[in-house]
Amino acid sequence: MKENSLERLVSSRYGKVYKTRPYFNHSVEFKKQFTALERMEKLQNAGFNVFNFPAEMVTGCDLLSDSGTTTLSNEQWAAIHLGDEAYASNKGYFLFIDQCEKTFGEGFSVFLFHQGRAAENALFNQFKGKQTWVIPSNGHFDTTRANIEANKLQALDLFSDSLKVPSSEDCFKGNINIGKLKKLFKQSAKNVPLVFLTITNNTGGGQPVSMENIKDAARLSKAFNTPLFFDACRFAENAYFIKNYEQGYKNKSVGGIVREMFSAVDGFTISFKKDGLSNMGGGLFIRKEGLFTKKFPQITDQLLDYQILTEGHPTYGGMSGRDIAALSIGLGKVTDEDYLSHRVKQVQDFGKTMKNFGLPALTPAGGHAVYLDMDKFFKDTDFQPENFGGISFTAFLLVTFGHRVCELGNFAFGKFDRNTQTEILPEVNYVRFAVPRLRYEKQDLDAVAQASRALYQDRVYLPKMRVVYGRDLPLRHFKARFEIN
Ligand code: F0G
Repeated sequence: MKENSLERLVSSRYGKVYKTRPYFNHSVEFKKQFTALERMEKLQNAGFNVFNFPAEMVTGCDLLSDSGTTTLSNEQWAAIHLGDEAYASNKGYFLFIDQCEKTFGEGFSVFLFHQGRAAENALFNQFKGKQTWVIPSNGHFDTTRANIEANKLQALDLFSDSLKVPSSEDCFKGNINIGKLKKLFKQSAKNVPLVFLTITNNTGGGQPVSMENIKDAARLSKAFNTPLFFDACRFAENAYFIKNYEQGYKNKSVGGIVREMFSAVDGFTISFKKDGLSNMGGGLFIRKEGLFTKKFPQITDQLLDYQILTEGHPTYGGMSGRDIAALSIGLGKVTDEDYLSHRVKQVQDFGKTMKNFGLPALTPAGGHAVYLDMDKFFKDTDFQPENFGGISFTAFLLVTFGHRVCELGNFAFGKFDRNTQTEILPEVNYVRFAVPRLRYEKQDLDAVAQASRALYQDRVYLPKMRVVYGRDLPLRHFKARFEIN
């Protein structure tokens, strides 16, 4: 660490801390101001783990996640007040089922859960202990991978080649690598119970998946008698990209594109905390007449038992009636093209601003977040991967400017190998700036880009980090503690 670098980073040079407006469109929140030194003390106590930092002290933009952080509409608040809290078969549940059929098309059995990862565990728990089974994906999210591995199955990422070329202007860097999927099928199709496509690809830079890729993956999977599933958290944003980037879709409605996408799959898991425009909720959907049901006919009954044991009656699945009612409305709204164009344009403008400032942002940005490539960020410094530059950047963006973002790179996706006492590095090394839906304005995000530029200019002063707890734990980014090296 350079002498006096901490003082420099926390000094009055950064005194002009940006503060977000104290109001959102559904409520008023008067925020207290904190100094960089107060934040430094708190973050140090939290082991430099931004997840353990009090949200109240995030006086800039809180871009830790776009999940469950959506500002609800007035219609949703009204639905919350009208929510029916009957123990079973509440009114909201029927509205929800009706809306699901409109949004995703008919023919799915629906299992409701309190959030996405509960639905993932429900699915993979059915295959528990089949250690030779592999679930390939265009990029598993961390909880999906963790649920697969916790059930003693193998998770495999088959990223597209263009994702690893950040300068590539390929608009569908989220695609699954069809060549690699074919190779896997040829080697051991019997060990692949299903293929997963994450739309959009959160681990793969938040990038979209093309309709062509969805259909290619569906054809290939079918040829090897294997069901195809979506991890559908950001389905509407993905459909909006298909409309705007893919030939032949410009004049189709987003709603129609969504139904076309879902007609290709045998089932899907979803967290409604993203494109459900909801603060909670998750689901597992299985096509009644699909290949998955044909291959594993007993699973639907088993899932019902699992759901009742772990969540509650199938008509509420771990959610309160009022939350189901708000979700039904969110699901109906999310394919609105005025909303989507505002949403996607806001995130893409944010990415362009970052890039114009010389920051190594993945462009074009996806629909929910801007990703900075940390290998590029620290390229001309003496930072080594095990110094966890992404953790240092997130810590000091929070301390010095009050903006909270998330490392999704060498620490979150890497692993510590106890045998060799070395870090196994992931294929991608990002810091993610996730933009909550309907919450911030351009001036807010511009301030984050300016703050990131200041830290980029001062990158040689950023301290190297040392893991003092949790290096070898699963899902270590939620639990680890760091110190300045
Ligand atoms: N799949 C994807 C692609 C996700 O992004 C997430 C959550 C999940 C599954 C799990 O859903 O949180 O409802 O259990 N992503 C959040 C994020 C946490 O910040 O990206 P959940």
